Amino acid sequence: MKTIVKTITHTEEDKKIYEQAGKILRDGGLVAFPTETVYGLGADALDAKASAKIYAAKGRPSDNPLIVHIADVNALYDLAAEVPEKALILAKKFWPGPLTMILKKQDKVPDSITGGLGTVAIRMPSHPVAAELIRSSGVYIAAPSANTSGKPSPTRAEHVINDLSGRIDMIIQDDTVDIGVESTIIDLSEEVPTILRPGYITQAMFEDAIGKTIIDPAIMGSLKEGVVPKAPGMKYKHYAPNADVTIVEGPHEKVVEYINSQIAEKEAEGHRCAVMATDETKGKYICKDIVSAGHKDDELSVARNLYAILRDFDKQNIEYVYSESFETKNVGQAVMNRLIKAAGHKIIKLD
Ligand code: TXA
Ligand code: MG
Repeated sequence: MKTIVKTITHTEEDKKIYEQAGKILRDGGLVAFPTETVYGLGADALDAKASAKIYAAKGRPSDNPLIVHIADVNALYDLAAEVPEKALILAKKFWPGPLTMILKKQDKVPDSITGGLGTVAIRMPSHPVAAELIRSSGVYIAAPSANTSGKPSPTRAEHVINDLSGRIDMIIQDDTVDIGVESTIIDLSEEVPTILRPGYITQAMFEDAIGKTIIDPAIMGSLKEGVVPKAPGMKYKHYAPNADVTIVEGPHEKVVEYINSQIAEKEAEGHRCAVMATDETKGKYICKDIVSAGHKDDELSVARNLYAILRDFDKQNIEYVYSESFETKNVGQAVMNRLIKAAGHKIIKLD
């Protein structure tokens, strides 16, 4: 299949792009599009056959459900069997935006997109291209991140092209993805609202709006035996580059010393290594490949760069990556959650 790639130009021409993409979606095809978090790979959510194509294109396990993207809050009543008061409060406060809510589903939502669960994940994105595509196509869009399953999520059209070119009908390019990590997922289908995946919207922000909110214990530390994350997607090895990634935590001088000694050893053995640090700390390492993920005290800057950096390591055939650990405040918790997964939970703690 030849994949059509079209770039948003913010002129009258864009209309044609939305018309073409909308027709592909209504005909049961696949269109990748930017959102404010990462690129999504969309299909008509209520067309079971169309969304089945998403799983094939990504190589995604069929028990991993998809998020349904909407352009109007009223769609909640069309897709969810119950809309609790708390969902309305959160929708009012954080939609459109990087928030996904899990609610009991209506029968019309096909089991194939919910992995057979009785719930459905719903999100109203704020990115103007995503919003316009949903609105103008006239369908709800089921969309996971537009990467090959297991790879870092795409934050640039180039990443989508690398992973999915030839496997999907169309890619809408507009490299204005802003946050860089996927939406926060909150489960409102049970008594106490539970965060299943950290993102830009944090626990503190939820508690401010709806009171007590808990975080699924499977999220941060290593997954203990018997602890199954409630979002099926969170159990897979994910976001990982080919390189062996190690996170090194502790007092800064010790971290630098440890990483430099590891690099010296690995490079002497002829391996290609890289260090992931920050603008403020990158000067302290002896490695040939040192990447700054952003500013030390600006978690959002790291979120924006993280996935592109992980993908670059693969491009450069890096074998060992040593990463500093980053601030966990605000979106920093999501950054560390993704980085810990990329590292396969390999964290060296120095004191
Ligand atoms: O920011 C985002 O959320 C992006 C953009 C494209 O919107 N989408 C995204 O989708 O990250 P995906 O498929 O990569 O991640 C969806 C996550 C998975 O971990 C999945 O298991 C979980 O949401 N999920 C979906 N439906 C669920 C449900 N009914 N119950 C629990 N978890 C669910
Ligand atoms: Mg994903």
